[in-house]
Amino acid sequence: MKIKITFAYLVIIVNSALASSLFPTSLTTPLPEDALLNFTGLGVKYGHKVEEHSVVTEDGYILLVFRIPGKRKTPVMLMHGTGDSSDSYIIRGNRSLAISLANQDYDVWAVNGRGNRYSRRHVRLNPDKNSAFWDFSFHERGYYDLAATIDYILQITGETGVISVGHSQGTTNNFVLLSSRPEYNDKVKLCIALAPVAFLDNLVLPISLLAAFGPTIDGLLSPLQLNEIGGYRGIERSLFKFFCNQGIISYVVCVIIGIFPGQGYDAKRLEPSFLPVALGHVPAGDSKKGLLHHNQAVLSKRFAPYDYGPVKNKKLYGHTVPPEYNLSQATAKIALIVGKNDHLSRVRDVEKLKMHLPNVVKYHVMQENEWNHLDFVWGNDMPETLFPVIFPLFEKYS
Ligand SMILES: *[C@@H]1O[C@H](CO)[C@@H](O)[C@H](O)[C@H]1NC(C)=O
Ligand SMILES: *[C@@H]1O[C@H](CO)[C@@H](O)[C@H](O)[C@H]1NC(C)=O
Ligand SMILES: *[C@@H]1O[C@H](CO)[C@@H](O)[C@H](O)[C@H]1NC(C)=O
Repeated sequence: MKIKITFAYLVIIVNSALASSLFPTSLTTPLPEDALLNFTGLGVKYGHKVEEHSVVTEDGYILLVFRIPGKRKTPVMLMHGTGDSSDSYIIRGNRSLAISLANQDYDVWAVNGRGNRYSRRHVRLNPDKNSAFWDFSFHERGYYDLAATIDYILQITGETGVISVGHSQGTTNNFVLLSSRPEYNDKVKLCIALAPVAFLDNLVLPISLLAAFGPTIDGLLSPLQLNEIGGYRGIERSLFKFFCNQGIISYVVCVIIGIFPGQGYDAKRLEPSFLPVALGHVPAGDSKKGLLHHNQAVLSKRFAPYDYGPVKNKKLYGHTVPPEYNLSQATAKIALIVGKNDHLSRVRDVEKLKMHLPNVVKYHVMQENEWNHLDFVWGNDMPETLFPVIFPLFEKYS
């Protein structure tokens, strides 16, 4: 025990020393302005007033939710994916979803799931000291975070329902909420799932290989006691920022070799000049347990709550294997939007999901053959490609 704690401290000290000495700011190319502004700063730069709201969940997490108030009644709630934050919905500036919605007078609420850079707070637990803070996955971000945020939004606005948009794991959060707390179906007028993630049966290399070895890798790394992954102030991000901000070589190494294999190749929609902007915002921090939970879905081909092993499962769920989320309880209207070249949200997996959902009002495969996982939030031509698909839905269901 003592050795473990000492080791953990050593890791923390070495990490912070490395982060500040190995990558002094003088050595790194300065990031562009849009990399350094937070959601509020970007909202203001692109012409809007932004409010910052704190939402406290039933289990004590304090979430930061950004709001761009608008005159239209039905609030639009945006939930980000793994290791990401509200910022992905706004870093394309005038071409982003958040600003485009605000320009059309929608009331925009951008959520930050527990544990990311904006929501690293709890009424009792200290994320730097209590590993219990990090004991969550996409389940809790759906079951608690989205539930608390929806209730908060409805209370502030006096409205009866939101339009809930999710990207990647943000869609998983919605599927968890709607299937395990069915009363929330009445509070969601429409759920728009961009790159939906529930089943992960058809992953391709290299992600499929990584997933196969996920538990082994986790076992090997266990002495490091990593609970937080890709923290905004952590060593991973310092490394990422340093190596990925060195011009065109960085683009090749970080985007073509580093990002595209996992997300799908689409150099057209993620151009070199956008990389430094993105570097200012990702990774934004997440729990390791969240990744392991997705990993379980890959290996089991099931969409179910976290598998703790037979003994704890029996205690928690009454079964040795966690029962699957009952997707037929997710009766809210749902739109599924998927890309042919998305390496994470595979068309065949979304088709399987669609068969389980009782109320899919729109199923759309993006026409563009190269459309990948990130294009749904970062694609430079969203106003010409994605928005014509989803804005009519905002109009129709608000
Ligand atoms: C965002 O940045 C602004 C300055 O542009 C600052 O006033 C505000 O406190 C920041 N908000 C958060 C949540 O970091
Ligand atoms: C964003 O678009 C608006 C309207 O077209 C324009 O007035 C504004 O200058 C743009 N903002 C930036 C920072 O490019
Ligand atoms: C799932 O929910 C549906 C609809 O409420 C119900 O009929 C069905 O029995 C449930 N399935 C399981 C396995 O609990």
